[in-house]
Amino acid sequence: MSILLPGGIGYIGSHTAIELLQKGEDVVVIDNFSNSKPEMIEKIEKIAGKKIKFYEADYTDRNAVEKVFAENKIEAVINFAGYKAVAESVKEPLKYYYNNITGCIVLLETMKKYGVKKFIFSSSATVYGKPETVPITEEFKIGGTTNPYGTTKLMIEQILQDAYNADKTLDICILRYFNPVGAHESGLIGEEPQGIPNNLMPYVVRVASGELKELSVFGNDYNTHDGTGVRDYIHVVDLAKGHVNALEKLNKEGKGLYIYNLGTGKGTSVLDMVKAFEKTTGMKVPYKIVERRPGDIDECYADATKAEKELGWKAEKTIEDMCRDSWNYIKNRNL
Ligand code: UFG
Repeated sequence: MSILLPGGIGYIGSHTAIELLQKGEDVVVIDNFSNSKPEMIEKIEKIAGKKIKFYEADYTDRNAVEKVFAENKIEAVINFAGYKAVAESVKEPLKYYYNNITGCIVLLETMKKYGVKKFIFSSSATVYGKPETVPITEEFKIGGTTNPYGTTKLMIEQILQDAYNADKTLDICILRYFNPVGAHESGLIGEEPQGIPNNLMPYVVRVASGELKELSVFGNDYNTHDGTGVRDYIHVVDLAKGHVNALEKLNKEGKGLYIYNLGTGKGTSVLDMVKAFEKTTGMKVPYKIVERRPGDIDECYADATKAEKELGWKAEKTIEDMCRDSWNYIKNRNL
């Protein structure tokens, strides 16, 4: 029996593939390299000491997806495929709605045809919109997303809820990620955004490496301890392990729709992160304070106790681990 990972060569998918392989699972990956590179396959296999079965295909391509199900005994699907750039989604909403939603529906329909019941979905804290308080529990109301990317996550959550209501034999787990950062400690795989990064950590490491001149800190008049935005940064390896625990939960209990926040429960401001990065790596990160970025919120961090109680999962790595591993990856890549 194999676990299918659409988007399994990307940032979070590749780290999860390693954790699954190291647990002895067989992993099948579909990826079209839209935001990843073919050489990642070899690196995943090198770290895990085990091969994956790889299909270069688009997960919206029904025939291609069907071929994968026909050729493998798929036991569960963990869907990492999907576009994720917030600003691009504002400019090209149709591309985002088409890809993220069609891909998911093709997967669910093919699963139905082949009698596959277990589905784990990469959702995001973005579904909470602008939360009224923090920390955020899974019971908070969802909605009020501020961009098409976030709305695709919200819509897919609704689709999964409806699919489950119509077929209670499905085993679905929705994982709401907070802010994934860091890289594998081997330094072989990490985050590889195309073009100029939008997210904080990829930007910080490229300023430290000299590829970019300085960090723009988007606003210092937020209602936070130092005025800069507060987020819940989670190490990508901790996040990857959360998927393994979610799969174990579905294997053990199944028959349900489960929702978990995957975060650390701790808030870190932009300036906290810059300071931690400089202290951990010894590198300088020049920055300037600029205008707020539209759509940003003051604070967003998880109440992560539900995942701890029900999945037996807890994020273990610190902000220093995240800074060290992100930097280590970029340093190795530039050698
Ligand atoms: N920030 C800067 N300068 C930068 C980049 C970011 O000051 O160059 C600040 C932002 O204003 C924010 C914080 O750093 O306060 C984090 O910003 P990111 O862009 O790294 O992350 P976001 O919290 O905005 O977005 C992330 C994911 C989205 C997801 C969202 C909500 O990238 O996919 O969390 O969960 F939707």
